[in-house]
Amino acid sequence: MTESSERAVEPDAGAATPGRTAAVPPPDPRPTRRHRFDRAALRADLRAAVPDATAALVVTALIYAWLYARVQSGTSATLAVMPFLADADTYWMYWLCQAFGWSALLWSWITLVLGLVRSSARPAPLRVPAARVERWHRTTSLTTMGLMFAHAFLFFAELVRDNGDELAWPGRLTSAFTDTFVPGGYTSGTGRLAILIGLLAFYLAVPLGLAYYLRRSTGGRTWRALHRFIVVVYVLSVWHTLLYGTNVWYDGTFRTLVWLLQLPVAALFLARLLAPARRGDRLGPPPRRTAPRHPFPYALPYALRLAARLAAAATLVVLLAVPATGRDGGRTPDGEATAPGVEPGTVWAGLAVLCVTVAITAYRTRPRAAVGTGTTSRTGEASRMGEAPGPS
Ligand code: HEM
Repeated sequence: MTESSERAVEPDAGAATPGRTAAVPPPDPRPTRRHRFDRAALRADLRAAVPDATAALVVTALIYAWLYARVQSGTSATLAVMPFLADADTYWMYWLCQAFGWSALLWSWITLVLGLVRSSARPAPLRVPAARVERWHRTTSLTTMGLMFAHAFLFFAELVRDNGDELAWPGRLTSAFTDTFVPGGYTSGTGRLAILIGLLAFYLAVPLGLAYYLRRSTGGRTWRALHRFIVVVYVLSVWHTLLYGTNVWYDGTFRTLVWLLQLPVAALFLARLLAPARRGDRLGPPPRRTAPRHPFPYALPYALRLAARLAAAATLVVLLAVPATGRDGGRTPDGEATAPGVEPGTVWAGLAVLCVTVAITAYRTRPRAAVGTGTTSRTGEASRMGEAPGPS
């Protein structure tokens, strides 16, 4: 992928290109309140997501039919964990919840793969234009959010229907809502940790995904820097699945498959870090013309980039070791139930660290006022950080 191909897909590309003539006044980089959120782009992406969302619904329906048939025939892995769910018709919303969980995970996988392909230097045989890959990435990400919501909503609906505590309607709705949508609200068993992780994945996916439509006010650099944290959403989603999915509760082919599917993601992630599309993301020193007098501003980004590459390589090794050794963290049917090993408090602490890191990143990449003009200069910023002037 080249810088110019990237520019082609940014609607406001060139807005702050150096060397513009005075005849073409640059657009005011400070958007009005009305334009801060790019509703038109979101509407267009939602329309473009219709075929993709339809495909996701068809896939969900097929998974649902398969899960339902397995419950009816008594071969469902879920029944080995929760035999009281044996009535396929009564618990249909639970199977639909599971089906949406799997399609959400599949669409998260597709979205991440498309995003990594888009932001990596393009291998010669890949003929699909970068703009198209990016459009697919945007539409599948919107579909993924919808699937995540449907998955959680069906769990909520099943809790309301089941009404295990025999509450009156207000209590019934409040209790189901707290269990499903309030982080930390589900307080029993593995769900104490697993539902918290799933909810955080969902709640982080929404702002980090939709930040794209705010890029006019945040600036392209801030948006891109923040969007990278979306990888946390994917990691949380896979963790939630392996921890809570009753169809992958025990060791077995299906659980191994979920692990194996993470291999291409990790390989693409490493490739993205080693050969990024954007020059400014490379590990080497900044171009000479932008090198600062003092090297310190680059020491931290350099260390972080190096650490990310080493972590990605280590993850790949671990993912290769899991199927090779068969140690995939699955329970054994007659084994003792083991505690997850992580407490919700640790997850909350991790979330706090993430929030601080996101805030620091937003601050460091914020658009700054250009000296003497009083306006925001994104191009100047790009060159200060060693990035080629490009899409803002
Ligand atoms: C939004 C908050 C979430 C809630 C309340 C929630 C709830 C649940 C529940 C109750 C289960 C257990 C179903 C079973 O018996 O297996 C489950 C499993 C699962 N969840 Fe979630 N989840 C959430 C988020 C997510 C996310 C973000 C993903 C992926 C993108 C996801 C994917 C899955 C998958 C694949 C399963 C396995 C289903 C099976 O065993 O067949 N969940 N979730």
